[in-house]
Amino acid sequence: MPDVIPLEEIRRAAGRVEPFLARTPLLPTDGGAWLKLELLQPTGSFKVRGFFAAALALPEERRRRGLMTVSAGNAALACAHVARRLGVPCRVVMPDGAPAPKVEGVRRLGGTPLLVSREELLAWLADRSWEGEPETFIHPFADPAVQAGHGGIGLEIVEQLPEVERVVVAVGGGGLIAGIGAALEQLRPSVEVVGVQSDGYPLWPRTFAEGRPPALTPSTIADGTTAPYDAAMHGRLAACVDRWVTVPEPRLRAAVGELAVRSRVVAEGAGALPAAALEQLPPGPVTVAVISGGNIDPGLLARLLAEAHRPHGRHPAS
Ligand SMILES: Cc1ncc(COP(=O)(O)O)c(C=O)c1O
Repeated sequence: MPDVIPLEEIRRAAGRVEPFLARTPLLPTDGGAWLKLELLQPTGSFKVRGFFAAALALPEERRRRGLMTVSAGNAALACAHVARRLGVPCRVVMPDGAPAPKVEGVRRLGGTPLLVSREELLAWLADRSWEGEPETFIHPFADPAVQAGHGGIGLEIVEQLPEVERVVVAVGGGGLIAGIGAALEQLRPSVEVVGVQSDGYPLWPRTFAEGRPPALTPSTIADGTTAPYDAAMHGRLAACVDRWVTVPEPRLRAAVGELAVRSRVVAEGAGALPAAALEQLPPGPVTVAVISGGNIDPGLLARLLAEAHRPHGRHPAS
């Protein structure tokens, strides 16, 4: 178990974030699986768990200097929300191609987006440029305090559904599944942890199948899962993910519409990935799919709902 976050740390993180966050419901579906509705958290994704956990673990003096992260989406919103709740400033380095609603969302939450080109962003990260900034930098997935916060999802699942046998999770940088996996490994080692990506960016399934990270350009509606390969996460994911599933992009597009219509759950692409993966898993085990986020562009949602109702299952490009 390399680098596994101790259960006690996950429990402490859960205690720290409790005053600020919801215990999200587990929704039973007609198909028999359960949906863990993390999209109901403030800012519409699980990310606030990790950012609250990390920010509240900081010494007061470092927290007061403010928070900083790098993200095109949900981590940016979560960082701004957490900073506002804690009464400290926040700046987020964002690629200049980030969706306008996410950039606006950061501003609305009182944060300051710093828009840079993708090349500048990668160089900023590679040079650890945050070390020269006044705020405290919180890494969106590699920070163990962030992962400990996400581990709270694992604790809740075991409490809410003690008979759970399988948990299915979307993977980007890997912080979400590393946290949930750490909790389950220590509380319920027999639970199977399933990692999911789209075939529009199958970075981790191919890395593990081929022994090295492939060069890929993302082409998926699951934009939350398109983080670049990070060697620091490789060992952790190798240890905690029992099975990988790659979802064909047309099945993912259909799953967004199916979740909305059948379960009344409006998920973004990354959030719907685990639901879309269920059809590829052997039936039987008591299964939870973590629906991690709901920040979908309204125009894309409208197109996916229209596709869901089109006969012959045609799926035009977005
Ligand atoms: C909605 C959603 N699901 C899943 C993920 C993947 O999380 P991680 O990068 O920790 O693997 C993200 C990451 O941004 C996300 O926004």
